[in-house]
Amino acid sequence: MVKISVTNLAGQKSEIDAEVGLSLMENLRNNDFDDLAAICGGCCSCCTCHVFLDEDSYAKMPEMEDDEQYLLEDAEAYQAGSSRLSCQVEVDDSMAGIKVTIAPEG
Ligand code: FES
Repeated sequence: MVKISVTNLAGQKSEIDAEVGLSLMENLRNNDFDDLAAICGGCCSCCTCHVFLDEDSYAKMPEMEDDEQYLLEDAEAYQAGSSRLSCQVEVDDSMAGIKVTIAPEG
């Protein structure tokens, strides 16, 4: 388990114990962040698991595949250097302390 800071759509911050080996999306859903819809279930085809990361946190993310990049670039809320699809990020021990903000849909 690693501690992750999460800000929901309403701007409320909380800290969760994220399970290493699960995706960031699965950890958010398991901790009742229902404002992260994740409607494709992690197939990288919906963009409803979009999150923002601060600079330090973003640097700890695994490399992005092309299909994730294409989906994100189509999202209205896309922010280069901050946006990721949380279903494409597997949580590992290096991610302790990362700061995640759930992005608005669209
Ligand atoms: S859950 Fe659909 S792209 Fe991540």
